[in-house]
Amino acid sequence: MDLLLLEKALLGLFAAIVIATVVSKLRGKRFKLPPGPIPIPIFGNWLQVGDDLNHRNLTEYAKKFGDILLLRMGQRNLVVVSSPELAREVLHTQGVEFGSRTRNVVFDIFTDKGQDMVFTVYGEHWRKMRRIMTVPFFTNKVVQQYRQGWEDEVLEVINDVKKNPEASTNGIVLRKRLQLMMYNNLYRIMFDRRFESEDDPLFNKLKVLNGERSRLAQSFDYNYGDFIPILRPFLRGYLKICQQVKDKRLQLFKDNFVEERKKLASTKATDNNRMKCAIDYILEAEQKGEINEDNVLFIVENINVAAIETTLWSVEWGIAELVNNPHIQQKLRNELDTVLGPGVLVTEPDIPKLPYLYAVVKETLRLRMAIPLLVPHMNLHDAKLGDYDIPAESKILVNAWWLANNPAQWKKPEEFRPERFLEEEAKVEASGNDFRYLPFGVGRRSCPGIILALPILSITLGRLVQSFEMLPPPGQSKIDTTEKGGQFSLHIMKHSTIVLKPISF
Ligand code: HEM
Repeated sequence: MDLLLLEKALLGLFAAIVIATVVSKLRGKRFKLPPGPIPIPIFGNWLQVGDDLNHRNLTEYAKKFGDILLLRMGQRNLVVVSSPELAREVLHTQGVEFGSRTRNVVFDIFTDKGQDMVFTVYGEHWRKMRRIMTVPFFTNKVVQQYRQGWEDEVLEVINDVKKNPEASTNGIVLRKRLQLMMYNNLYRIMFDRRFESEDDPLFNKLKVLNGERSRLAQSFDYNYGDFIPILRPFLRGYLKICQQVKDKRLQLFKDNFVEERKKLASTKATDNNRMKCAIDYILEAEQKGEINEDNVLFIVENINVAAIETTLWSVEWGIAELVNNPHIQQKLRNELDTVLGPGVLVTEPDIPKLPYLYAVVKETLRLRMAIPLLVPHMNLHDAKLGDYDIPAESKILVNAWWLANNPAQWKKPEEFRPERFLEEEAKVEASGNDFRYLPFGVGRRSCPGIILALPILSITLGRLVQSFEMLPPPGQSKIDTTEKGGQFSLHIMKHSTIVLKPISF
């Protein structure tokens, strides 16, 4: 190790201990902070609680310290909220105060310090970006323009699976093919483009770079440099890789998609029948001077991270639960057959006639919440929450998974039982009308993509169940549903092999 660097770090550490002790004494007098484990100077609670602050570990802390608790992660304050009442306070009543986002050293790189929409603070830039993105992405008109495309994409998956003899015997990892489908669903909306096959070189470049971005951002490996700024020099190598991945990705979006679309638009400028796709609207906003070229690329980047994998994880969880609960799979198939007729594949306008399908989607999002702690919120200024003072720039995690899986609030929450949404929880919607169930958040920073995600999930799961009996591979009675969490994601650890036996009519 570089000795000079080490010496500097140790000196800095000593200085920081002194400052932190003084500051914490002063702060202790001024603030009534939420309860939590007793912090030690510099490290706070970090050494006690470790890196993996997943929804389950945070639930254990909530049981010990209460519905609002404070963890000091080095220099960062982390407030965990675990009751519907406090979630309402953060997301609704004090939605402006807690409507910003924290970033960290890594997210600063990936978003150029908040040039995007998802990770920017609550304010003028966020409002503008969200307004500009609404018409091209988040309206029912968009759903109607693209829903046939989504239906076709699932049909392509079904046809490909039927052509593969392995699928009905030893099984296949269906996720790989579904990933192509999800990219196509979103790239149709963004650029009016789709990728022909899993071997498409551009699709593979995108997949690798998006995967790298997710891995680097969701990892816990860089926490030490984020929590204890004095250790940041040791992160230099990590941050350099992040910078390279970010540059390559944005360049790829620019060269292969944005510029291509610009060229096409200039050659077909007189073609009034051409359907506009999302990027056309975004480029118009750029031309009007509302946003700059970087913002355009960050909109593309945000859709890549916020839309594709989250929906894919949920599809994957839904399939896993249907494989492991064959009676629910059959009940769903019966509903589809009865309402639509055998072999008539579900389309988007059919969804309101299929309550059990919707219940399966909602139950998947409850038990296997893709973003269990929401995207972290932040208060720019000192604030009050419950009876406590929350220092400015605290990271606020709403444990939405626990709100939806707390046995004090739900009947046997550990069971995958879609019927609950037709029986005792029939009034609960995915859009956040009940603060116990917030898979998409609620309020100002809630997920605008819900309007696309729900029909995509319903069409995909519905059509698969109508076309195949989905089973665990030979010799297994269930597939492995061990969870894997990241900074704020929850997906299935193993992309399981499943057997898909075509259903004949
Ligand atoms: C099953 C799929 C999805 C789930 C479970 C999901 C969930 C979420 C959650 C929990 C948040 C954060 C809410 C908060 O912090 O309060 C969020 C934010 C967001 N989601 Fe989604 N999402 C999904 C799909 C999508 C799709 C398809 C899109 C876009 C087409 C999208 C775009 C966004 C954006 C742009 C934000 C940031 C909003 C803001 O900061 O103002 N999401 N999503």
